[in-house]
Amino acid sequence: MKTYDIKIPVTVCTWEEMSKEQQAIVAKAKEQTAHSYCPYSGFHVGAAVELKDGTVVLGCNQENAAYPSGLCAERVALFAAGAQHPEQPVMRLAIACYTDGHFTAEPGSPCGACRQVMIETEDRYKQPMEVILYGDNESYIFRSAADLLPLIFVGDNLNG
Ligand code: THU
Repeated sequence: MKTYDIKIPVTVCTWEEMSKEQQAIVAKAKEQTAHSYCPYSGFHVGAAVELKDGTVVLGCNQENAAYPSGLCAERVALFAAGAQHPEQPVMRLAIACYTDGHFTAEPGSPCGACRQVMIETEDRYKQPMEVILYGDNESYIFRSAADLLPLIFVGDNLNG
């Protein structure tokens, strides 16, 4: 029997420490929180996806009176990108959360279902996507969605 430690590299940084490209995609995610439809939680999440050709696709959470029918911002953005630009690999994803009149001080953390969809996207295009979780105090940057979901389940796993 062996026990392994799984180490996950995460860069913790301020807004000023981000590159111009990172700031640009985070700014889009922040803007997008204004369009969230979240009458039940009041928790506004904005997501912005940057594609290989530079196209930016936006998403925000869409809630529903039948709660499970709603969808998180990340999946709205990733599914829109897959539907509108199926040939374009996803290079970067940023999310920002806004509640009680301000952006959250600490980064929002994607739910398990969104992590699984990020993984499928990376597997589909054979392209890691940088994931930026924005917080007003500090942000977290992951080099790949796989770092957010160790021991992933992808299509190859179906082959036994
Ligand atoms: N939500 C997202 O859109 N993304 C996340 O990463 C976490 C949660 C949404 C779902 C729901 O509309 C609200 O935030 C509260 O959970």
